[in-house]
Amino acid sequence: MTQADSQNQPLHQPVLYHQIIHALHPFSPGLYVDGTVGAGGHAWGVLDACQPEGRLLGLDLDPQALEIANQRLSVFNPRVTLVQASYATLLEQMRRLGWQHVNGIMLDLGVSSIQLDRPERGFSFLSDGPLDMRFSPEQPTTAEEMVNTFPEADLADLIWRYGEEPQSRRIARAIATARPLYTTHELAEVVSRATGGRRGRLHPATRTFQALRIAVNQELQTIETVLPLAVKALAPGGRLAVLTFHSLEDRIVKQFIRRESKDCICPPEQPDCTCQHTASVIDITRHPIVATEEEKLDNPRARSAHLRIAEKR
Ligand SMILES: C[S@@+](CC[C@H](N)C(=O)[O-])C[C@H]1O[C@@H](n2cnc3c(N)ncnc32)[C@H](O)[C@@H]1O
Repeated sequence: MTQADSQNQPLHQPVLYHQIIHALHPFSPGLYVDGTVGAGGHAWGVLDACQPEGRLLGLDLDPQALEIANQRLSVFNPRVTLVQASYATLLEQMRRLGWQHVNGIMLDLGVSSIQLDRPERGFSFLSDGPLDMRFSPEQPTTAEEMVNTFPEADLADLIWRYGEEPQSRRIARAIATARPLYTTHELAEVVSRATGGRRGRLHPATRTFQALRIAVNQELQTIETVLPLAVKALAPGGRLAVLTFHSLEDRIVKQFIRRESKDCICPPEQPDCTCQHTASVIDITRHPIVATEEEKLDNPRARSAHLRIAEKR
C-alpha cells in the first residue's frame, strides 16, 4: 500500500512524513509507539512499513482524533491499538500490552488540522468559537477560565513565557480591562486593538493563542516528562523521532538529546568528572531536519517544523 491509498484521506496532512518513516525504519515484527497519533497519518506509514507482523500503539488525548485514526487505521487491525491517554503514560500503556521495549517512538507535537478546523475547539482565531483549547475534554482548565480568572500579572507572565510575546504586559492589561471574554474572536480583537493591529506576517493574536494553548495543556512540562520515559521505553538501536513547531519545544528536545548523548555532563570548567553520567542515546540529527520549500508551499504547517532523532544506545 502507498501513502496515497484511499484509506489515507488528507484530513490532516502529516508533516515531514517520509523523513519520519525513514528515521524510524520500521521492520517486521517491530513494536512502535505513536504518542500523538492524531488523524493517523504518520502511524499509517509505520504500520504500512512494518508489515506483516509489526505492531503500533497509538496514543492521543483527543477522542475526536482517535475516532478518525481508528477508522483510517482499521485496515491494519489487529496490528494497531489505540488508547485515549497522554504520551506521558506511554510506559504504563506499553505494560498493558505486555511490551517491555519498543523499536521506535514518534511524537508530533503540533495541533492537528482536525482541531484547528473545528471552531468549537477554540484553538483558532480564524473562526469564532468558545475559548476552550483543551486537547482532552477531560482536562479541567479551559482557556476561558485562564483568561477570565488569572490575575493580570500572571496572564502577562504566561503570554511572555509561552508566547515569547514582547507586548505581553499591554495585552494582559487589555484582557483584564475587557473581561469577561468568551470567544476566540472576542479575545483576538482585544489583542489586536492592544497591539495596534497587524504589522508583519503574523496575526497579532498568534503568540497569545499559542501561549494560552501551551498553558491550558501544560505542554512544555509534559514534553519534559516524556523524553526520559521514551528513552527508557526504547530497545537498543530503537529510535525516537520528535517533531516540534516552535522554539520553546524544540529547545527542550535539543537540550535533552545533547545532554543524553554525552558521557559527562559536568560543567566544562571542572577538571575531573564527578557526574557519573553515561550517554543513553546517539544524537542522529545534530541539526534538525526541516521541510523542503516544496513541502512548505504545499503544507503551511510545515513551515516551522523541526525534526530531531535520537537512537537508544
Ligand atoms: C499534530 S497532531 C498529530 C498528527 C499525526 N501525526 C498525524 O499524522 O495525523 C498532534 C496530536 O497530539 C495530540 N496530543 C497533544 N498533547 C498530547 C499528549 N500529552 N498526549 C497524547 N496526545 C497529545 C493532539 O490531540 C493531536 O491530536
